[in-house]
Amino acid sequence: MPYRLTVIGTGYLGITHAACMADLGFEVLGLDIDADKVLRLNSGELPIHEPGLEPVLRRGLESGRLRFTTSYEDIAAFGDVHFICVGTPQKRGEYAADVSYMDAAVESLAPLLDRECLVVGKSTVPVGTAERLADKLARLAPAGVLTELAWNPEFLREGHAVQDTMRPDRLVFGVRSERAEKVLREVYEPLGDVPIVVSDFATAELVKTAANAFLATKISFINAMAEVCEAAHADVQKLSEALSYDDRIGGRYLNAGLGFGGGCLPKDIRAFMARAGELGADQALTFLREVDAINMRRRARMVDLARELAGGSFHGCVVGVLGAAFKPDSDDIRDSPALDVAVTIGHQGGRVTMYDPIALDNARKAHPELSYGESVVEAVRGAHVVLLLTEWQEFVDLDPEQLGGVVAARRIVDGRNALDAETWRSAGWHYRALGRP
Ligand code: UDX
Repeated sequence: MPYRLTVIGTGYLGITHAACMADLGFEVLGLDIDADKVLRLNSGELPIHEPGLEPVLRRGLESGRLRFTTSYEDIAAFGDVHFICVGTPQKRGEYAADVSYMDAAVESLAPLLDRECLVVGKSTVPVGTAERLADKLARLAPAGVLTELAWNPEFLREGHAVQDTMRPDRLVFGVRSERAEKVLREVYEPLGDVPIVVSDFATAELVKTAANAFLATKISFINAMAEVCEAAHADVQKLSEALSYDDRIGGRYLNAGLGFGGGCLPKDIRAFMARAGELGADQALTFLREVDAINMRRRARMVDLARELAGGSFHGCVVGVLGAAFKPDSDDIRDSPALDVAVTIGHQGGRVTMYDPIALDNARKAHPELSYGESVVEAVRGAHVVLLLTEWQEFVDLDPEQLGGVVAARRIVDGRNALDAETWRSAGWHYRALGRP
């Protein structure tokens, strides 16, 4: 392989990128400022739950092609291409994104560079960040060192990170020189025939925020239809199915339910609105405020439905909650609709016991005030109402008859439209779902 790669930041994105690139044959050095995390990664332990990633990590370590370090000196000396994959969280009390970790990465790396290299931003950032970081890189890199910035946004989904990295729908290269484009083409060549869009920095940054805004809008669209269905006694599941056969619309991201959460969609649409405001283009994105509002209303509606089933009040009511992660196959609880609903019900007097196959420890750390069960049965024992809030396969496969023997009352709200209503009703359950009669 012609290049040695480094990956700065080992969150979902950075670990996956580093491990997959090593699997493709590159020598890769990952960096994180968290020494404990680096230690764990070097011993083959994943700090996150991501299906299929651990074997890829281990293969990389065993082959000797993949290592992790805390030292910027090490990566500056090692890398021909440096990928920056640090987090860009929402600022406290604001819509805008906090890009200070991006700046810190460039500030730490640039002065140490002593060989020709390309620095590539992958994180999701407000448009204009790449240009600013390119100036910073040029200012801080030692004179005479040939280096420049490129922008290469990442579109991977948690739970499908390896597959999305190895078989991406497209690659986007925001570049300012033919040299940068050539390097990126060579780095991704082992992926085979993937559509590549080459653009300026701003367009490359915007592709990512636009994609997330579109996906969030699609989810909120169907959830808005769910609101109307609730008022009109119609069935959003049937509606969604019928829409999906129109291939101009398509069926993906059209599942009505509790709406979107996680570390990306909610904060990215807010950061996008904030940035558009700074650019004087806020009118173009006012619809995203509604997308966000529809999304948050689903959580409130879920609480209302659960309270209705509980007989009008949560006082004295035992609520069994299935799911804590923001979606299945992830241990991520950032902005999780499931946790949000559970916490609200707790505040309103419900005695909540929660279970999740993988995210339980993270939930427990973040919300020690809730009770947790180590299994579905423990979570729903004696429950007056059961809530399905994350559609793990384990929950979809539940036997309503068996579960009925454990609860105090057979009442369930399916927050993800994941269960077969008829099966549950014929087992004597009072079954309710969002957007369905
Ligand atoms: C998202 C984007 O998909 C990805 O391209 C980007 O790089 C990061 O943000 P991710 O946050 O991992 O990925 O999750 P995703 O699978 O997109 O789901 C986001 C949320 O939307 C979840 O809470 C999920 O439950 C919800 N969702 C998704 C729905 O409510 N309905 C749907 O039809 C699809």
